[in-house]
Amino acid sequence: MSGLLDITNLRIDLGQARTPVSPVGPLDLTLDVGECLGIVGESGSGKSLTLKAILDVLPEGLVRGAGTLRVMEQGKWVEPAAKDLRGRKIGLISQEPGAALDPLMRVGDLIGEIVRLHSGCSRAESKTRAIDLLRQVGVPDPEKRATFWPHELSGGLKQRIVISMALACKSEILLCDEPTTALDVTIQAQIVDLLRDLQKQHGLGIIFVTHDLALIRQIADRICIMYAGLIVETGPSAEIFKAPQHPYTRALLAALPDIEASSGNLQPIEGTPPNPTDFSVGCRFAARCALATEACRAARPLLEKTERGTMVACFHAGVAP
Ligand SMILES: Nc1ncnc2c1ncn2[C@@H]1O[C@H](COP(=O)(O)OP(=O)(O)OP(=O)(O)O)[C@@H](O)[C@H]1O
Ligand SMILES: [Mg+2]
Repeated sequence: MSGLLDITNLRIDLGQARTPVSPVGPLDLTLDVGECLGIVGESGSGKSLTLKAILDVLPEGLVRGAGTLRVMEQGKWVEPAAKDLRGRKIGLISQEPGAALDPLMRVGDLIGEIVRLHSGCSRAESKTRAIDLLRQVGVPDPEKRATFWPHELSGGLKQRIVISMALACKSEILLCDEPTTALDVTIQAQIVDLLRDLQKQHGLGIIFVTHDLALIRQIADRICIMYAGLIVETGPSAEIFKAPQHPYTRALLAALPDIEASSGNLQPIEGTPPNPTDFSVGCRFAARCALATEACRAARPLLEKTERGTMVACFHAGVAP
């Protein structure tokens, strides 16, 4: 597979002090053409901030403190400014599609405007193309829906519109931050199917953040397990679900004895993750880990390759608790 996105050493800092508090990182991420990378972790582990850092749309007070971000452009790795990625190479699909839609523009005009901006075509052409895009993302009766205002659409349709906007931008990478959480189950499945179809048809690279392990197992080629701002285990999804090596991943999966039958949502693990201000020098999971030893508290384990083709950051990787 060919590379699409390559992030190394990404760190997100709170403020700009000389020794900043860093809720996320350092971490590395890669994404290939046509690949779906799942990011899983408890609430507060840094999933959303990681996606926001990629587009440089971090909330006030947070900054990208370190890291390089490269994308593949016409066969070459380049390091573009974030503003050149937003609404172009990379699209963001969030949990709240309404926020991405201008309430004062009809749906067809919204999409048409983006088409015109990106292709410089005429108003009439952009209108036809907008309707085409609506059809591509499965909006029924697209000619009629194009005349609707955003508030006249259901959550599922709004999410389809946001996805069509990313296609209008010719985005090659979609960052999906729990895009289906606010939707009911049937609509969730339809949106996931749509994303998978587009991934196949257009070779889109997708980073998919969710709490839903059953869903991630179904759609992700590779997964990253995040804990307290760091990736603690990563690799092909099938391998990690078959034989998780990190005690945190094991706890996550053990809390889901029958992943197919359950809702798939993360179950609570005893204890709570540390706050970024309390991150220790050692393993951040140590306080909740049955295997933790002095070594775990003294130094932070880094990601290391395993025989299974995965990477794990644990001094006791693979040991049964
Ligand atoms: N605006 C902010 N200012 C300061 N710290 C923040 C801010 N937003 C997030 N954080 C810190 O960064 C951590 C990661 O937040 P993030 O929103 O990325 O978590 P998440 O994994 O997306 O969680 P969830 O599953 O609940 O969406 C939080 O625990 C919090 O400590
Ligand atoms: Mg989040």
